[in-house]
Amino acid sequence: MRKIAVAMAKGGVGKTTTAVNLAYGLASGGKRVLLVDCDTQGQVAKFLGEKPAYGLYEFITERLEDGQFISRNATIHGCRPNLWILDGGIRLVELKNWLGEQSRENRQTILSQKLVPKDGALDYLIFDCAPGWDVLSVNILMAADEVLCPVALQGPSLQGLKTFFRYLQSAQKLNSDLRLEYILPTMFDRRTRHSHDNLMQLKKYFSRQLCDPVHHNVRLSEAPAHGQTIFEYDPRARGARDYRKLIRRIMNHGAPQKENT
Ligand SMILES: Nc1ncnc2c1ncn2[C@@H]1O[C@H](COP(=O)(O)OP(=O)(O)O)[C@@H](O)[C@H]1O
Ligand SMILES: [Mg+2]
Repeated sequence: MRKIAVAMAKGGVGKTTTAVNLAYGLASGGKRVLLVDCDTQGQVAKFLGEKPAYGLYEFITERLEDGQFISRNATIHGCRPNLWILDGGIRLVELKNWLGEQSRENRQTILSQKLVPKDGALDYLIFDCAPGWDVLSVNILMAADEVLCPVALQGPSLQGLKTFFRYLQSAQKLNSDLRLEYILPTMFDRRTRHSHDNLMQLKKYFSRQLCDPVHHNVRLSEAPAHGQTIFEYDPRARGARDYRKLIRRIMNHGAPQKENT
């Protein structure tokens, strides 16, 4: 099973868009995927047009609001063939408090201890991370092996990277399996100089990890309002093509793919 965290210190860079479309694309290709929403904004379910009753809070604490026990399996919400989600949202604020109260030795690895699917049950675990750095982010980076870092090519995007690498380095001290495998440039606009300059910078520092960019694409920003992935909303859109390419690269363990769409 591969465990991929979609993470970046900044918000609004395309983390959720990437996590949702990646998870759906892998699932529709026959892989069994669990997508975990680790953000208090709880956008994953909205992007997929779903309203799960439970989520990551209940999964980890095995408790409902009224204190009653709930089994972990019951907290996982099936939303498409081969695709399940663990919902995030505001309950994660309480989850962070709960994690903070656990013993020092335990609190950073609780998620990785609990998230152990039966052999063959899942092919991919995808984590949609929140922008900040806290006890929950640490838990995710302890449970993941690969990091996919979306970088928006518009705005002062490369600034967020430095902060993120500091986070990543501290996580790698605790989880030596954790590797930065994919840098995904997002919101690429080929008409702007800024996009090209930022892309060149990324090429200079991350030639191995650098993926082909996802273009700025209005269809990508419209799809969530319809509760659909780009592959459902407009499979011929540029954004769908770009994400298909990313999915092929990931399935191919990071080797760049020739375009054939
Ligand atoms: N390639 C893209 N082109 C156009 N809009 C995009 C693109 N990627 C994401 N968006 C839109 O930008 C906003 C932020 O994206 P999101 O995935 O929620 O970022 P994050 O999870 O990093 O905060 C959303 O409204 C989303 O629909
Ligand atoms: Mg998000």
